Amino acid sequence: MESFLIKGGVPLRGTVEISGSKNAALPIMAATLLTSEPCVIRRVPDLSDTRFMAQILAALGAEVKFENGTLTSRAKKIGGYADYELVRKMRGSICIMGPLLGRLRQARVSLPGGCIIGARPINLHLKGFAALGAKIQIAGGYIDATAKKLAGATMFLGGRAGSTVLGTANVMMAAALADGVTVIESAACEPEVVDLARFLNAMGAKVSGAGSPTITITGVKKLHGAEHEVIPDRIETATFMIAAAATNGEVTITGAQPDHLRAVIDKLGEAKVSVRRRGDTLVVRRQGRLKSVDVTTLPHSGFPTDVQAQMMALLTLAPGISIITERIFEARFMHVSELARLGADIEIEGPSAIVKGGRPLSGAPVMASDLRASAALVIAGLAAKGTTQVNRIYHLDRGYERMDEKLRKLGARIQRIEEKA
Ligand code: EPU
Repeated sequence: MESFLIKGGVPLRGTVEISGSKNAALPIMAATLLTSEPCVIRRVPDLSDTRFMAQILAALGAEVKFENGTLTSRAKKIGGYADYELVRKMRGSICIMGPLLGRLRQARVSLPGGCIIGARPINLHLKGFAALGAKIQIAGGYIDATAKKLAGATMFLGGRAGSTVLGTANVMMAAALADGVTVIESAACEPEVVDLARFLNAMGAKVSGAGSPTITITGVKKLHGAEHEVIPDRIETATFMIAAAATNGEVTITGAQPDHLRAVIDKLGEAKVSVRRRGDTLVVRRQGRLKSVDVTTLPHSGFPTDVQAQMMALLTLAPGISIITERIFEARFMHVSELARLGADIEIEGPSAIVKGGRPLSGAPVMASDLRASAALVIAGLAAKGTTQVNRIYHLDRGYERMDEKLRKLGARIQRIEEKA
């Protein structure tokens, strides 16, 4: 297993280019299963998750090529069965279910199981498929969905924590080839859902309202091949913004989409981090001393749960008390105990973490537990005095394209090493 060895205390300076969005690319890659014609997807980040999704498409029968950020896929003839080995490694692979059901009227997909950030149920995905007329059976760890006929329907997909991103994507994809009109109420408004709708429409689908809580899909008989460029990764952008602020540097971020990051930019402003935007470029630096702030994660356009850990790393450096409340995933505080190893003072109280910030961090060996927690540890390591070893960075490689290389270009002293046993 590999680790990052970080010698902290160097302010990041320079320019970084943002990659395509992982969470937009995954469902869009799955959507290529909806047609027998070739599809070309550009700006697909080269990550273990996207490579894995390419493998899933191939295992289902598609001809797939994934090179230099471009995925070409032709799903001429596909099967509707995805076994446990294919699904367990990446929870996001559940989003092949909608396209399989739409195209083949049947799908047999292994239940994905939970993950370190929480239980991650899929009841809302199944509720949506059932509303379209699919019969759902769960047995032996598999979900079987079959439909003689998929018929458009009106459904409410809000859950305990609000809307569901992949649930909305899944139902949109199945409904694209259903008979009649589907209306998803309490749909996820995330930019990744909007990007999927754009791709589906380029394939000949009729999706409107994406980006709002009501999405309408008028089913069509057939979809055709299409080309698409994936949106910039808003979470990677936020991660670099926070890394710039944490190290007291000045970083220019290019190829971003600032409109997707209003909540993060606003919160950073409150914490005394200046973010100047010019088109798709952002210039980030501190405005004097950091200020403690309270943050609550919410569905889009609120503060994203995928930036909670990184923001916590920053707030450990802000004098005063910051309260961070996690409203999307109940167990997403795995980074707290590792940040404490670097000297952070954080207490968990129910869904909130109380950060007593302002104490200097000092380097230590830490363990990455999930993708965004890993990013938080890298940020903390960059800001800490001394050497930090972040172990198990395979989590990070799932979602950040060449993060170490990009950070080195900004002056960070970061090396990828083989973890010592
Ligand atoms: N939920 C249900 N029932 C469902 C589905 C979700 O109760 O059927 C609950 C979840 O337990 C959670 C909330 O609804 O409390 C939101 O979950 P959502 O379904 O929106 O999450 P997701 O679609 O499975 C995507 C991203 C996550 C990101 C979340 C929230 C992908 C591949 N994953 O997951 O990304 O945190 O939306 O924005 O798009 C990451 O990139 O690190 C990551 C975890």
